[in-house]
Amino acid sequence: MKRLISPVVVILAALLLPAVAQAARLKIGLSLPTQREERWVKDKQVMEAEAKKFDVDLRVQVTDNDAGKQVAQCENLISQGIKVLILAPHDASSASVIIDKASKAGIKVISYDRLVTESPLDYYYLSFDNVKVGELQGEFITKKVPKGSYIVLAGSPTDNNAKLFREGAMKFIKPLADKGDIKVVMDQFVKDWQPSEAQKLCEQALTANQNKVDAVLAPNDGTAGGCIQALAAQGLAGKVPITGQDAELSGAIRIVQGTQSMTIFKDTRELGKRAVQMAVDIANGKAIDTKGQVVNNGKRDVPSVLLTPFTVTKENLDERLISSGYLTREKVYKK
Ligand code: BGC
Repeated sequence: MKRLISPVVVILAALLLPAVAQAARLKIGLSLPTQREERWVKDKQVMEAEAKKFDVDLRVQVTDNDAGKQVAQCENLISQGIKVLILAPHDASSASVIIDKASKAGIKVISYDRLVTESPLDYYYLSFDNVKVGELQGEFITKKVPKGSYIVLAGSPTDNNAKLFREGAMKFIKPLADKGDIKVVMDQFVKDWQPSEAQKLCEQALTANQNKVDAVLAPNDGTAGGCIQALAAQGLAGKVPITGQDAELSGAIRIVQGTQSMTIFKDTRELGKRAVQMAVDIANGKAIDTKGQVVNNGKRDVPSVLLTPFTVTKENLDERLISSGYLTREKVYKK
């Protein structure tokens, strides 16, 4: 006679199976600096969608530009049993503590978009070629305004990218400044990349120079927006060329309207996807091929994957941002 499986066993299995499946789901941590800028909202959305595809349990924390909070949030993620941590640090050097803690727990870190500096430990860096971003900005603005008074703004001093963008841009601005063709009337970092802070700085520079400013190097669309408000208050918006970065909707609208001269397109959809794929590969013990590319963090060379940034102006905005589906025509050209 056939032995029947007891109904109790069947019920128990039905109850336990989802729990087993749950326990087996790969957990990945994601720590982001902010959600106040559109680009970081997109990064989060892309990574959440990609995690769903891979059936990954992505645990997300946002630090709101607070280095201490980021350490505490990452400790918490580590204690939740994540296998990999995708970390976009608010403060490059103090975030090395997070790498220490993750390493002790056997967790690999992917330094996302922004490099964690001063860590001797083993981790990956996934970003864009950020010196190139600055070069594109510097090349653009010096071509447009080869002579004149410049406001030079850099991003947050706690963000390694801000230094790289500045370094790239200065390759073009400094030789002309040394020659005396360009006069840098202001050269400042913008705390936490805040648009309101950029606006204040631009107001100060305009006042101090009786509005005689010919060009503005703004490191991203947020700070450009702040500065354009200061220019607009003096009737100068659209008259003074100004750079940007991130291809945010507001930046694209200003380009179309003529108050912002350019932006840099970094496809965060690609970056987000790569991050999750890399994290899954790391968790599965697969080797990550960085093709020998490295970026020095002050203590060691970090194996890096760097994607390509592109300049966007009124002329190629449709092709770069709209045809690629990054922004929609309706929103960019809204009346
Ligand atoms: C990013 C930029 C962003 C800035 C402010 C940088 O690290 O690379 O895309 O505009 O942070 O959030």
